[in-house]
Amino acid sequence: MTIWLPNLDSSKPQYQAIADALAHDIATGKLLLGNRLPTQRELADVLEVSVGTVTRAYAAAERRGLIRGETGRGTFVGRTAPQSFGVAGFPAAPDVIDLGVSWPLHAQDPDLSRALRELRRRPDLPELLQYQPNAGMRRHREAGAVWMRQFGLEPDADDVLVCAGTQHAMTMVFSSVMDTGDVVLTEELTYPGVRVVADLLGLRVIGLAMDEDGILPESFETACRQPRAKLLYTVPTLQNPTTATLPESRRRTLADIARKYDVAIFEDAVHQLLADDPPVPIATFAPEQTYFIAAPSKAVVGGLRVGFLMPPKHRIEAMERAIWATTWMVSPLTAEIAAMWIEDGTFDETVERKREEARRRIELMRRVLSGTGVHSQGCSYHAWIDLPECWGSAQFVNEARHKGVAVTPSDTFSVGNGAAPNGFRISLCAAPNMDVLERGLNKIAEVLARPPGMGGPIV
Ligand SMILES: Cc1ncc(COP(=O)(O)O)c(C=O)c1O
Repeated sequence: MTIWLPNLDSSKPQYQAIADALAHDIATGKLLLGNRLPTQRELADVLEVSVGTVTRAYAAAERRGLIRGETGRGTFVGRTAPQSFGVAGFPAAPDVIDLGVSWPLHAQDPDLSRALRELRRRPDLPELLQYQPNAGMRRHREAGAVWMRQFGLEPDADDVLVCAGTQHAMTMVFSSVMDTGDVVLTEELTYPGVRVVADLLGLRVIGLAMDEDGILPESFETACRQPRAKLLYTVPTLQNPTTATLPESRRRTLADIARKYDVAIFEDAVHQLLADDPPVPIATFAPEQTYFIAAPSKAVVGGLRVGFLMPPKHRIEAMERAIWATTWMVSPLTAEIAAMWIEDGTFDETVERKREEARRRIELMRRVLSGTGVHSQGCSYHAWIDLPECWGSAQFVNEARHKGVAVTPSDTFSVGNGAAPNGFRISLCAAPNMDVLERGLNKIAEVLARPPGMGGPIV
């Protein structure tokens, strides 16, 4: 294999020029996910710089999430995969208050035992153990179509496929729209599940510049000119982690650009029902480009593993085959519970209950963290906190954990080529009750009030 030879910008310090060249060559596809980089000594020799300079460059690139070192194997393009859920003890130790993970207010979940009692009385119960069409049973698709009206869409049952939640829809859509080495575009801070799917499929992820309202259309248009840019993944309403909500005019512009460059859009509406007055979906402006996914996972319940996918009409058959390829069909039993809860109003009542609880939690957070750079909208389960310059994100998160509260550093969400913005995400929805949440928030306020250097060494 030929050694990677960067083009260095001589106006910058050498280590920074190497790290920037890595970012450039990854963004332009010269370096691909998983490529092995030269050893530090090899690169130092060809560039005629010290090994220390390369060590510093690789460390800077690793902090930016561009590369990862694997003990005994070498250095590779791409980040360490986000930590899996389900690992023992994840995410926080028992004595740590968890304001990191995004559990959707389980105390307000609907009553499953009542639903099971109702199901027991149903004469058609055996059907739910039988194979059904890949797209889901007709009545489940009909219920999905009815529920999607709340998202500002008016699909027919034929337009809607039952899938196993947003993550499943991402895996199906990404794999059917893209080939290895293709590019997914997304907000520069994004839901980490995007990277998990991209890594699985060998896709590159490019982060788009954002402001308070979400993606900047110019950044999207520039990225669309890349030869292998095939799909935009976006959470336009209550984006995770920033809570940004894209205004209608920008949704139209993104739709126009996607049409112009024939880039598909994956519109993730998982947080939309927690917004106060969300603009209409991007799918309204570019139905022939957009895969819209409405999953109840956050505003209603996460464990059903049911979602409703509305692909472009000409892609419905391809998506049916993708469901077949990945899971044959979603379990008819869980889809039946979802349909029953849509029809009897349980979904709506649960959304209302969770919104009220989220609103109380946001008020508490604003009170405890008043005077800090808090970003939060509607009834979002998350808040983004800007940090003052005296803190680095990872440094703050370490110190908070040391004080007994877990929050999530910006690097977890960052897919941009530059340094991740200096801040962290608080999840307001994992704490089992308001008392625990208040204790966790007070700990964060304490850490914020003692900038590094004022309270002894930070570990
Ligand atoms: C933006 C976003 N999309 C998708 C998911 C996961 O959705 P699902 O459970 O429907 O796969 C999450 C979970 O936190 C999320 O924040």
